This record gives sequence, C-alpha cells and structure tokens, in this order.
Amino acid sequence: MTVPDTAGTAATAPQALARRPARPIGAAYESPWNALLSAAAEPYRRASRFAHGFARGKLALDPVFRAFLEHDLLGGSKDVLDLGCGQGLLAAWLQGAWRCYQSGLWPRGWPPPRARALRGIELMGSEVARARRALGGAFHVTQGDIRHVELGTADAIVALDVLHYLPPPSQIELLQRIRAALGHQGLLLIRVGAADSGLRFRFTQELDRFILLARGHGWFKTYCRPIEEWCSLLRALGFDNDATWMSRGTPFANVLLTCRACTASGS
Ligand SMILES: C[S@@+](CC[C@H](N)C(=O)[O-])C[C@H]1O[C@@H](n2cnc3c(N)ncnc32)[C@H](O)[C@@H]1O
Repeated sequence: MTVPDTAGTAATAPQALARRPARPIGAAYESPWNALLSAAAEPYRRASRFAHGFARGKLALDPVFRAFLEHDLLGGSKDVLDLGCGQGLLAAWLQGAWRCYQSGLWPRGWPPPRARALRGIELMGSEVARARRALGGAFHVTQGDIRHVELGTADAIVALDVLHYLPPPSQIELLQRIRAALGHQGLLLIRVGAADSGLRFRFTQELDRFILLARGHGWFKTYCRPIEEWCSLLRALGFDNDATWMSRGTPFANVLLTCRACTASGS
C-alpha cells in the first residue's frame, strides 16, 4: 500500500466553505487537510505551547497519521487500545477527524471516519499529564508499563514506535498478551524501525533517542529487528501480517506491520 502525498486529495477551499456549519472548525481559508490538523492539535493548547507545537508538527509530517484516515487502517474496530500512546496523538487525530467530518470539512476521496472508543497506556507521567489536560475524559489513559498493565480486551491494538524499547523476551511476552487480549480476527498495528535498512535505520534510531532525551525521558536502550524477523515472530505467535513502508516524505526507516489474530499462539 502506498500513501500518496497530501496535495491532490483535499477538497478545494470553496467546496469546503459551501458546506461549512455555523461553528466552523479552523479558519475560513483553511483546506480540509489544514482544518484537520488544527482540529486535532487545538486541544493541546490547554496543555502547553510545546504540546501544541509538537502535536501539529508530528501530525502533519508523520505519514502514519494520514494513513490511519485515508486508508481506514482501523477498519470497523470500535474498541481501540494504544500502547505507549505518548501525549495521545492518535486519539486527538481520530477525534479531530470526527469533528471535521461532521462539520463538512473532509478531504475528498477519503472514507468517512468512524466513531471509536480509545484507551491508552503510557509510561511517562509528563506525557500522561499532557494527554489528560488536552483530551480530558474523551481519552482514557492509564499511566504504567505496558509490560505489566492489564490490557483488558480490545478489537484493535496499536503500538507505534514503542516495541523497540522492550528487551526481546518482553517483546515476545507482550505480543502473547496482545494476542490473548484480541479476539479471533482482532487487529494489531505495530510500527517498527526496519533494522535491515542501513543508514536510514541508524538515523531513525539516533533521532528517536535524541528526541526522548530532549523531552526529559533519559537515554532509552533500543532492541530492533529486521522486518522479516518481526514477520516470522508474529506468524509464530498467531498473527497473519503484512508489512508496509511507512516513512514516505521522511528520512526514516519505519514500517507498519498490519497483523490479524488468526490461530492460537504457537509458543
Ligand atoms: C516514540 S514515542 C511514540 C508515542 C506515540 N505512540 C506516537 O506515535 O505518538 C514512544 C512512547 O512509548 C513510551 N514507552 C516506552 N516504553 C514504554 C513502556 N514500557 N510502557 C509504556 N510506554 C512506554 C514512551 O514513554 C513514549 O511516550
């Protein structure tokens, strides 16, 4: 699956304005794409200028957020759990999408967003505080370590750029718990760095560590695998999976693994 550029799919401003409701989202001249960015990032003004700027920048530049909506990555999943959710960007993005769609500002050709309940688990208190200040009760976030916090049950589980912080035995244990938390055909979306992507991968890893350090999270050790190894591991644990390059427009080496719970865990 390829993720096309933003330009070209958004409806033009006049079309969007024609459908504008009494209480518009975003400024009148904004394209649906910009209105979506504004709607999703806006709640972070309640947290801090940093949280707002970070949200707007990451949502605009990271192709995975666009793909969530443009390709309806979560499908019909109603109950979604976001592991290592950070400041809750995915929840803010999906909520912003819903508001934009209801306001008639929606990129042409994209499927309608669907209403979903989102929960998150996040280790860092500062991230949890930002998520709670911005999103309030609309996003239920638990502070804790995904290795130990009860996952409950979910239709879909998302872990974007998180698994590589866990040592290999913990990665396997978590994937087994995820498999148990998802019913048959449950959906798991994981984004990982492709350890077989040479310099791009090294750049991705070093920048990731630097950002966490700059955000006061210390120096995380990371544990990455080549994509083929992730795919074999996931198959052995009972997930059919499909790998999609998810770094378009960035210098990174990130891959999205779309996994469906199929057979019982093999180990
Ligand atoms: C690179 S950030 C990605 C945040 C979010 N998934 C996103 O895409 O915006 C990784 C996040 O995983 C969190 N994290 C790392 N290890 C964790 C653990 N063991 N339990 C819970 N969260 C963890 C970090 O605190 C950080 O917020």
